[in-house]
Amino acid sequence: MIALATPRLVLRPWSATDLEPLTEMCADSDVMRFIGDGRTRSATEAQHLIAKSDESWQRHGWGLFAIERIDTGTFIGFCGLARPELLQPLQPAVEIGWRLRRRVWGQGFATEAAAAVVDWAFTDVSLDRLLAVVQLDNLPSHRVAAKLGMHRDQRTIIPESGIWVDVYEISRSLWQSSQVLM
Ligand SMILES: CC(C)(COP(=O)(O)OP(=O)(O)OC[C@H]1O[C@@H](n2cnc3c(N)ncnc32)[C@H](O)[C@@H]1OP(=O)(O)O)[C@@H](O)C(=O)NCCC(=O)NCCS
Repeated sequence: MIALATPRLVLRPWSATDLEPLTEMCADSDVMRFIGDGRTRSATEAQHLIAKSDESWQRHGWGLFAIERIDTGTFIGFCGLARPELLQPLQPAVEIGWRLRRRVWGQGFATEAAAAVVDWAFTDVSLDRLLAVVQLDNLPSHRVAAKLGMHRDQRTIIPESGIWVDVYEISRSLWQSSQVLM
């Protein structure tokens, strides 16, 4: 598995020491408010998240990255690629996801990490299309998706939960044209 670097962050493979801060993050109701049904998750569920990401890395060559701040060397969350499993009609598809510890919100870290993942997804993973699935009231995530150059493709309902979401999309060609403009 590989690592990505940005000016302030390293996106790297999971390490054993991430479980404790990941568990703490997933037990924070502010963080989890717009993840599925909004309930906080247990240590076992946090462990399952890492295991599932590891499995994805082995099977597809992509998955979630742990995010570490370069200045403090601390784990601040994760960002990476996954299957949007709750939206079967969208399959086959790959979505980008992000989740950060509450204390680091509002400093542009999510956008910085996600932009590196988008670039990597189109260059190294060679995806043709990338989605982001955002609950309607998750305003910071709508903003992050927009800042990544994603556009809203459809509004749909998760059958299992009855929760409405916006599905954002960025295609390889749209990403390429944004690179030319930069
Ligand atoms: C979504 C999340 C990762 C954003 O992290 P972040 O590092 O604060 O994001 P950024 O700073 O890169 O960008 C956030 C943007 O949302 C904006 N924002 C924040 N709160 C907002 C609000 N209530 N209404 C509108 N915009 C808001 C910020 O101003 C910023 O936009 P700007 O740069 O134009 O000012 C973080 O809030 C989080 O971990 N949330 C919980 C997990 C989650 O919901 N994950 C996504 C599931 S789809």
